[in-house]
Amino acid sequence: MKFALAVLPGDGVGPEVVAQGVKVMQAVGRGSGHEFALSYGDIGGAAIDKHGVALTQETLKMCKGCHAVLLGAVGGPKWDDPLASVRPEEGLLALRKGLGLFANLRPVKVLPMLVDSTSLKPEVLRGVDMVVVRELTGGLYFGKPKRQWRTSRGRRAIDSMAYSEMEIERIIRAGFELARSRRRKLTSVDKANVLESSRLWRQIAIELSTEYQDVELEHQLVDACAMRLIQRPSEFDVIVTENTFGDILTDEASMLAGSLGMSPSASIAGIPREGSMTFGLYEPIHGSSPRRAGQNMANPIATILSCAMMLRYSLGLVAEADVVERAISSVLEDGYRTYDIMSEGMKKVGTVEMGDLIASKIAGGCL
Ligand code: IPM
Ligand code: MN
Repeated sequence: MKFALAVLPGDGVGPEVVAQGVKVMQAVGRGSGHEFALSYGDIGGAAIDKHGVALTQETLKMCKGCHAVLLGAVGGPKWDDPLASVRPEEGLLALRKGLGLFANLRPVKVLPMLVDSTSLKPEVLRGVDMVVVRELTGGLYFGKPKRQWRTSRGRRAIDSMAYSEMEIERIIRAGFELARSRRRKLTSVDKANVLESSRLWRQIAIELSTEYQDVELEHQLVDACAMRLIQRPSEFDVIVTENTFGDILTDEASMLAGSLGMSPSASIAGIPREGSMTFGLYEPIHGSSPRRAGQNMANPIATILSCAMMLRYSLGLVAEADVVERAISSVLEDGYRTYDIMSEGMKKVGTVEMGDLIASKIAGGCL
């Protein structure tokens, strides 16, 4: 089959890690007989420099015409002026919103050979295998009013954490459905002791739970959840939470897997189902890491794992997704590491070499 993929490398290390993702997809294509037709577009700072905006309508349209989108990262010091009229991040937010991608899946799995490169004790990490379902097109990121202004008593700014019933229901449903396909435990994370939007969130979670009696539902306050994530992380199966809470908790949770450079993500417009062809956007959860850019240092594994998620959720190619994940494990078992997951006795490689090693495992066909 022929698949159309949009590729938006973005800023900083984005283009470097995306090039490795593309390399791996090409190896998958050669091995499986499928064809991936790539269309490139600009996003973030790269788009601001070229077009004056962080996302053009043409790029958005191009993405809509594809089966899936692969994205690197956006942002960097060049565009960081708080007074700037356009910001790179706006491009990413407009893309997520414009494509209706409300469900952001961020899996965290501890690979046994990386236990030494994390900062937590091995016994805490044993058995960690969770997915955070982050609401992606609402909440504090998008709620109105949202502005900054001058008053006679100084400057003021406001952001709003706003949610409709429909927005909460569909994301919690995505959480329940995903939990049903896994270990049947859903942790709904909110701040219901303080926030109105969280009280509505919790009510809807309780109401929906009658439809999912086979799934165990628990509620956690976001501050307690932050603690539990490093205290007893293996107790989590699926976590479902608000946009900003999910942003923060997933950076924290990624440390369980050793590095931000190991954490992929999928953003989709519906219920996540393996083997389906639901449109989605795939990106590493890490940022553009400007300090590492152009040095062949960044870990491409988060992006390559995102490609595996693309195969699994948007291209209907589950067996191929498994091959990509096995290729990554196998290269790590061979002792190759990028700087961020380096530990004693291992062989340090750069971005390109890591991409080559993984692609050649796939090309070798022995997985
Ligand atoms: C992420 C990033 C983005 C977010 C930024 C770059 C807007 O941190 O994908 O987690 O906050 O969603
Ligand atoms: Mn983030």
